[in-house]
Amino acid sequence: MTGEIAQVGVIGLGTMGAGIVEVFARAGLRVVGVDGSQELADRGRGFLESSTGRAVSRGRLAESAQQEILDRVTWTAEYDALADCDLVIEAVPERLDIKTAIFTKLDGVVRPDTVLASNTSSLSLTEIAAATARPERVVGMHFFNPAPVLKLVEVITTVLSDDAVVERVRDLAERLGKKPVVVRDRAGFVANALLITYLARAIRTYETGHVSREDLDDAGRVGVGFPMGPLTLSDLIGLDVVKEVCDVLYAATHDPSAAPPALLQQLVAAGRLGRKTGSGFYDYE
Ligand code: CAA
Repeated sequence: MTGEIAQVGVIGLGTMGAGIVEVFARAGLRVVGVDGSQELADRGRGFLESSTGRAVSRGRLAESAQQEILDRVTWTAEYDALADCDLVIEAVPERLDIKTAIFTKLDGVVRPDTVLASNTSSLSLTEIAAATARPERVVGMHFFNPAPVLKLVEVITTVLSDDAVVERVRDLAERLGKKPVVVRDRAGFVANALLITYLARAIRTYETGHVSREDLDDAGRVGVGFPMGPLTLSDLIGLDVVKEVCDVLYAATHDPSAAPPALLQQLVAAGRLGRKTGSGFYDYE
């Protein structure tokens, strides 16, 4: 099938998955949101309601438009609901075994021409693609947090990707109002390869104790021009995700600046993963 992508599925409705649902629904696509239980699916609906509700209260979105966005989405724990989707994107936690199991299962549920995408930020897309009977129709579609706001989408390809599929996904990203960049599967792809070494270096600087976390963040924000300081940004991304990308980049490159700093490892081991757990470098209420 080569027609316009009209209906999409999103598997995994945490911060990234729910944000991706919002991006699709705002662009007028029908969306099937799937998570492991109806309770988790309903939690995803709650994320979308509060995110679009915030836009309504800021005067950025009409209430009728919010209702239209909400009406475009179905929330379920049933994979069969994905049968008519033109594209399905997975945004579950970064575990290769979980992801490959999902892709293998999807193969038996969706049409043979359906494109399968992963939002992975650190795992090998090639290994995910190889878990399906359609590796040429598997791409990465890597959104950035918060997905409804940030414009970049990395479209990740493998040695097996079909160029026509890649073009379709790039066109879709443009329809979503995003800026797609196409990059071959590689540790850190391109944006994280740039960003994560900066974050790791910032954490190592903080470890030395010669600057407070607030002043370090101000230096990164006001002095270097990032919208957020590096410690605040690490908390937003999730310290487990930052560590995971460090691990993958370091294993692939042996670049010492990508090695996960000791403090990052300790915070992750202590379960202080940033905003999503209520504390990381900072505390959140
Ligand atoms: N969902 C939806 N909308 C959101 C949002 C969210 N989670 N967070 C903020 N927004 C919206 C707000 O509603 C607001 O919209 P309007 O302008 O229409 O009113 C707009 O974004 C700006 O928000 P705020 O005024 O509250 O705050 P801000 O101006 O300080 O911006 C920010 C907040 C957008 C998060 C900004 O600080 C920023 O861009 N930070 C950098 C984030 C970044 O670099 N992310 C990439 C991380 S790397 C990654 O994700 C990849 C990986 O694999 C690790």
